[in-house]
Amino acid sequence: MSDSITIFDTTLRDGEQSPGCSMSVTEKLEVAKALVDLGVDVIEAGFPIASPGDFEAVQKIARTFGSQTCICGLARCRPEDIDRAWDALKEAENVRIHIFLATSAIHREFKLKMAKEEIVRRAVESVKQTCDLISQRSDIQTPNVEFSPEDAARTEPDFLCEVVEKAIAAGATTVNIPDTVGYATPSHYFKVISHLKQNVPNIGQAVISVHCHNDLGLAVANSLAGVEAGARQVECTINGLGERAGNAALEEIVMALRTRQDYYGISSRINTPKLFPTSRLVSSITGMKVQRNKAIVGQNAFAHEAGIHQHGMLQDRSTYEIMRPEDVGFIGTNLVLGKHSGRHAFRDRIQTLGYTLDDETFQKVFDDFIVLADKKKDIYDADLVALIETRAHSVPERWKLTKFHVFAGTGTIPTATLELTHEDGRKVQDASTGDGPVDAAFQCLERVTGVTAKLEQYNVRSVSSGQDAQGEVSVEIECDGLTYHGKGVSTDIIEASARAYLQALNKAAAHTGGRAMHPQHGV
Ligand code: KIV
Ligand code: ZN
Repeated sequence: MSDSITIFDTTLRDGEQSPGCSMSVTEKLEVAKALVDLGVDVIEAGFPIASPGDFEAVQKIARTFGSQTCICGLARCRPEDIDRAWDALKEAENVRIHIFLATSAIHREFKLKMAKEEIVRRAVESVKQTCDLISQRSDIQTPNVEFSPEDAARTEPDFLCEVVEKAIAAGATTVNIPDTVGYATPSHYFKVISHLKQNVPNIGQAVISVHCHNDLGLAVANSLAGVEAGARQVECTINGLGERAGNAALEEIVMALRTRQDYYGISSRINTPKLFPTSRLVSSITGMKVQRNKAIVGQNAFAHEAGIHQHGMLQDRSTYEIMRPEDVGFIGTNLVLGKHSGRHAFRDRIQTLGYTLDDETFQKVFDDFIVLADKKKDIYDADLVALIETRAHSVPERWKLTKFHVFAGTGTIPTATLELTHEDGRKVQDASTGDGPVDAAFQCLERVTGVTAKLEQYNVRSVSSGQDAQGEVSVEIECDGLTYHGKGVSTDIIEASARAYLQALNKAAAHTGGRAMHPQHGV
């Protein structure tokens, strides 16, 4: 009989802690929606006490999606953290609070300076406080409380058993066993979970959860070993996002369990064709690229180049293919549309790719498609996805690039002449010189928008193949100590660069509420 697993997604909490991956409240809501559509069982939406922005994001996600899936917030074992988490979450129909306290000797001695007895007392008091708060809601019979002994994988096995047993006795319904520093190996982690199963008398009253970091590249393998030992919740992130080397990748866990159902006998509720679009969304919002050969969601994950493989595949796909690209919603470089494809065909294709666009966004993407179809003969799925991603992510468009001209070459001074249109209808034209055409365009954009930023990262990739392929430029800028990402696509990479930079400047301007906006030029 098939057993089921709880998929606990922590992209918005542990994933967001990754340097350079912070998201705005609007972006977090967008990711939360994608996670609901993907079918995750629990969304860890943030750490409400960490900042007012975190609190607001958790509260909005709880209000918006709390009737569709379980929304969870993180708290340390401190009364003020737990109160704050409850304040953010209390309106969610389906709510969980996740509390944590380190238990390993290293953390006890150097970080907490607490003895074992004090750790146990604090953990028990905190679980009880959390249960009491959640119990204020008359519609909740059993408070949904998760307890994590941080750095569990390096904690003395018998002390870990003691803490876990007492946390369960105090009311914890899930006990999570984090490998906080990515120190475990599969057989070691299997033993940690097995030891708990065999030595904690009340373990059957709680779900065992695994939470593995990827410092040794073993997060997915360790999580699966934990599942084999009896864990029934896996904590993971889209694209394996997370601090340092990241967390276990959700898409890898889900597809390993699905592909090897014969071995694990475990199923998840994940709508797997949404894996690829969700991965693209998270990558696009955070600016964290997915490596080409990344399992499940990398661009090469389903590419068979070797002749012997191609021959086998033509005879029977199962010779070299253990998953079908469509099972994960893989978007390849299929030739799909051209200049004469109508609105209907366009809408159909977008839906097949797993996107649902509101009317306004649909119209914008369709207009972009018409412009592109004039410049480029063949339009591929990947081109459509690039167009959708640059339009669909609720990016505030205070300024739009309406005209663009650059002049560059050997022995000339690179110059960019741009026209930008403000959301209030003003049009501003300006020109700048620079070290190269891209630099000239960036300087001109800063002059017109009045936002000054530092370029931290600049990447160009070809969206599809062929000489007329679109170039996709992603930039990361720093403005007033905060990081913003921007993306632009065009068959002209200098124009794509200008669009990407403008998108990032627009985000920075929206975040500062216009503080940074002092256009130097009039109408
Ligand atoms: O890695 C870790 O220990 C954590 C805890 C907060 C669960 O993220
Ligand atoms: Zn973690």
